[in-house]
Amino acid sequence: MTKYRIAWMPGDGIGNDVMDAARIVLDRLALDAEYVPADIGWEFWRREGDPLPPRTVDTLKTCDCALFAAITSKPKAEASAELAPELQGKGLVYRSPIVRLRQLFDLYVNLRPCRALKGNPLNYRDDIDLVVFRENTQGLYAGVEFHPLPGEVRAALEAHSDNMRAFDGITDEDIAVSCRIFTREGCRRIVRSAFEYARECDYPTVTLAEKPNVLRETSGLMVREARQVSLEFPGIELWETNVDAMAMWLVKNPQDYGVLVASNMFGDILSDLAAQLVGGLGFAASGNIGDSFAVFEPTHGSAPKYAGQYKVNPTAMLLAIKLMLDWLKETSLARALQQAIEQVIAEGDARTYDLGGKASTLEVARAVAERL
Ligand code: NAI
Ligand code: MG
Repeated sequence: MTKYRIAWMPGDGIGNDVMDAARIVLDRLALDAEYVPADIGWEFWRREGDPLPPRTVDTLKTCDCALFAAITSKPKAEASAELAPELQGKGLVYRSPIVRLRQLFDLYVNLRPCRALKGNPLNYRDDIDLVVFRENTQGLYAGVEFHPLPGEVRAALEAHSDNMRAFDGITDEDIAVSCRIFTREGCRRIVRSAFEYARECDYPTVTLAEKPNVLRETSGLMVREARQVSLEFPGIELWETNVDAMAMWLVKNPQDYGVLVASNMFGDILSDLAAQLVGGLGFAASGNIGDSFAVFEPTHGSAPKYAGQYKVNPTAMLLAIKLMLDWLKETSLARALQQAIEQVIAEGDARTYDLGGKASTLEVARAVAERL
């Protein structure tokens, strides 16, 4: 028996390339783990009508956590058109498997560290050290959406909000609605996770990016709960900003911020902005973390045009492993991996195309492994 069972989900396209790189480094780290392959992605949508087959969910339930690389996804009409002939016309609807995993396993934290690695030519500044805590299960991505707007839903909205008058005379067919749903506990636990991280890693501030002046009810709830939670953490300041202003501040003075916390969509957008400040998709890793399970991934997609070419930067994938090691409390391995990655970037010999280099995905992984 190994100490850990880790689900292994390369997914599609360059997902396979970067997972091969991951394996080189994990083998070198000699983590006492079994890697359990699990099916996820476009191929399973096409062949089986489900990009996250039930057997995968069963496998995940037997694992400590999962490593996931990337999947392909396409808009509704295209997705239906690509289904195998025998699956056509059955009303199958494509839903993002990663969003489903977040909801199925209640992975409410999306952790996105964005730290400038020394010597990375893509850094916007060299002194950036941001960590985004994005709420991962609620808000605008809760999946409560309507189009056309059902009559009963419309009637209920009209009965409860005078602002619905602005849409009088527009047919149900011509209205689409996506609901932004926050719960008190949902707000509390993401803010608390951010503060706990700030305390553990010595960040003096936690910045909440919301929009309470306009989104009075949802952002309002988040702000009130954040103020309450912050009282449990004397010594760490809560800064409140509007999300639009935050986008400007992150470009103007990113070095002034530490831990950021935001709801699902705002956090999604801010974390991509923050990631680009420290090198972009080749460097952006994330953890989807719940109380008893977690999925770690690079945030890039399947980049079909590079699939199988072993050209893309594996650093994001390797940083995802680092997050996993932190979560498993394999602290010394996590630190060693971080140092090895930093060393390779700083030395600048093994660089993929995005950094102006010619090294392959696997050469970079081997360079990291050699320094471990
Ligand atoms: P993408 O992230 O796959 O690629 C966009 C571009 O970024 C690539 O063409 C490449 O130039 C660059 N890039 C991405 N990863 C890189 C790496 N590791 N090193 C160097 N350069 C890298 O996004 P795109 O093209 O919008 O989407 C392609 C597919 O991936 C779509 O089907 C999309 O739905 C899916 N996707 C999946 C995600 C996931 O699995 N979490 C996230 C984003 C997109
Ligand atoms: Mg995103």
